[in-house]
Amino acid sequence: MPKDTFYITTPIYYVNAIPHVGSAYTTIVADVIARWHRLHGEKVHFLTGVDEHGAKQQKSAEEAGVDTQTYVDSMAPHFRELWQALNISNDDFIRTTEERHKRAVVPFIEQLQANDDVYTARYEGWYCVRCEEFKTDADVVDGNCSIHGTPVEWLAEDNHFFRLSKYNDRLIELYETTPDFLQPKRAYNEMYALLKQGLIDTPISRRIKWGIPFPGDPEQVVYVWVEALTNYITAIGYERDPVMFERIWPADVHLMAKEIVRFHAVIWPAMLMSLELPLPKHVFAHGWLLAGGEKISKSGRGITDLQPRELIATYGVDAYRYHFTHGIKFGGDDASFSLEDLHARYTADLVNGLGNLASRTLAMIDRYFDGKIPDAGAAGEPEVDLLAGAAGADAVASARMDAFEVTQAFDAIWDVVRRANQYLVEREPWKLAKDEAQMPLVGAVLATTAHVLAYLAALLSPVMPDATQELWSRLGYDGAPSLNPPSPAGNAVRVGDALFPRIEAPA
Ligand code: MSP
Repeated sequence: MPKDTFYITTPIYYVNAIPHVGSAYTTIVADVIARWHRLHGEKVHFLTGVDEHGAKQQKSAEEAGVDTQTYVDSMAPHFRELWQALNISNDDFIRTTEERHKRAVVPFIEQLQANDDVYTARYEGWYCVRCEEFKTDADVVDGNCSIHGTPVEWLAEDNHFFRLSKYNDRLIELYETTPDFLQPKRAYNEMYALLKQGLIDTPISRRIKWGIPFPGDPEQVVYVWVEALTNYITAIGYERDPVMFERIWPADVHLMAKEIVRFHAVIWPAMLMSLELPLPKHVFAHGWLLAGGEKISKSGRGITDLQPRELIATYGVDAYRYHFTHGIKFGGDDASFSLEDLHARYTADLVNGLGNLASRTLAMIDRYFDGKIPDAGAAGEPEVDLLAGAAGADAVASARMDAFEVTQAFDAIWDVVRRANQYLVEREPWKLAKDEAQMPLVGAVLATTAHVLAYLAALLSPVMPDATQELWSRLGYDGAPSLNPPSPAGNAVRVGDALFPRIEAPA
């Protein structure tokens, strides 16, 4: 069975702290992309999960005074539950302590060994437990990790190494022949420069307790990063369900933030090359969300006390999802997150923009046409243009979405919202309605904005699943919002409360 599924992944998150707005960011963007592809009729497999092995989890459990399995068991639900609260439509959720994962990691390593890509050697060098990463001198500043600013450890261990250097040339060739393998450009340039400098072999085992025993050497465990990367295949049936595996693999995109791009765009493809497995089509490494100028993190410098759940409680899950995908520009650059920006976006775009367009249209249909959407028989050029703009937005947005220009995709859709509101202001149907002779035109105006709203409900459903479903139903349509909605003429509308209630500015 050939591949027939769009496969998108997020990183699997460490469970040593509860998820914050930073961890939720990649998951929301991935969800929007996944829903976009489903909306367009594709089969989608959206995988997320948690990374539960390694020194960091072991240490956190020790600090909490519980055994490590009990610790990770108590933390994983925080992720599952937050994704539910954020309306994340993941098809699977993998935990790396699950049997299906542990069992498949063994043949993965054995295959590397069978290819003579693994040998034993001594590693002497730095290690940052917070990054779970072997560090070079260049990564260490005054004894501290350059990312976390906390002390690194000196390791001197006999380890198993992967012959990463053997794949140097093939990786260069990959980058040169498939420049969109790694995006955006800045990540590509950085990794390409690294490849040109020359790769050195890398340890793939650790002498710690908490992990998957290294095949053939139970004194050691598989290095957590190597094992974590394999989640992308162990979850979809690698060495377990070949039919499923072939339908889904390779990934269409691995999504993540920039600090873990080397693992995904250098080490991971090299291992897949060794195993002669197809490579992911795209790796996309976005910038960081910042608070007070620092990366938002669980325990690092840019701590924000704004919790996703509190924001959802105030603004609603749709507004939360909307802000992080359209309000904050998705791409290679870092972006600041603040409550003020979220509030301003909510008010401008959702209350005054989409919400206002919907409430005016529905209220006038209710008032002037007894709640039944009139026909657009008297439509003139402005109506035809507006509707054509709505119908054409999908093609523009889809092209951008395919290029992972998520924010720009929504710009194209938001243009329709803006134009429709502008059109109502210019047409002033509330004034026209004072003259009985103009009622056919009033009908055409409202039929048009109602139809435009139906397009918007579909196009915005990946980002605001609840509000758009509600809008779609209020416009008298059945089922879920779908692309190319038929004319709503004749549908009975429901006015309802404001889709996005006005909220007081934060103190
Ligand atoms: N466990 C590894 C990933 C293994 S994937 C095979 C890991 N976990 S993590 O918990 O540290 O998550 C890192 C990821 O969380 C980032 O790459 C990004 O996707 C997301 N983010 C965490 N904080 C973030 C920001 N402040 N801004 C943007 N993304 C954020 O690394």
